[in-house]
Amino acid sequence: MSTFYESVGGEDTFRAIVHEFYKQVRHDDILGPMYPAEDLEGAEDRLRWFLAQYWGGPQEFNERRGHPRLRMRHAHFHIDTAARDRWLELMGKAIDTVDRDTLPDEHRAAMWDHMERVAHMLINAPDDPANPGVHGGATPATGPHLGVPGTPGAHGSTGRHPGQP
Ligand code: HEM
Repeated sequence: MSTFYESVGGEDTFRAIVHEFYKQVRHDDILGPMYPAEDLEGAEDRLRWFLAQYWGGPQEFNERRGHPRLRMRHAHFHIDTAARDRWLELMGKAIDTVDRDTLPDEHRAAMWDHMERVAHMLINAPDDPANPGVHGGATPATGPHLGVPGTPGAHGSTGRHPGQP
């Protein structure tokens, strides 16, 4: 049985998505300053290793970086709703560059659900009242074009702002 990783095109697909993501990060007003300008290629590798490993590809992240512990690894970055939304917005655009034959809707939705859940889990800072997220926390509006109705995740895809009842 082939893995998710293999069935969506393996390394090429993950390389393409992560590359498209980092191309945008470089010029982004919120995310750009957070990432190491002198080591964006290294950052690209690290995110690709992680995603490939998560979806059943080579266990390269663990081999090179150790246990993911993503919350800990993001603890020293200021991640509020606006940063999360921007990360997801850029990732949604990156995923959109992959064609539907390579990444069918069902796989696209699964990948997106994982991204949303992790991004939400990584929030570690209160919102700046002057800038409460470009999309008011409505992450689905920033996601890739799934062609399927909402993808319910652990937090639901209601577009509800975490601070709202
Ligand atoms: C919520 C918004 C997020 C922000 C602002 C953010 C920011 C960052 C920054 C600044 C880095 C350091 C880049 C480097 O040198 O490697 C990083 C690393 C990383 N991020 Fe994120 N990230 C976010 C969400 C995510 C999500 C959703 C995932 C996974 C689906 C993820 C996975 C990773 C991984 C695997 C690394 C490399 C960790 C390491 O090897 O040290 N991040 N992130």
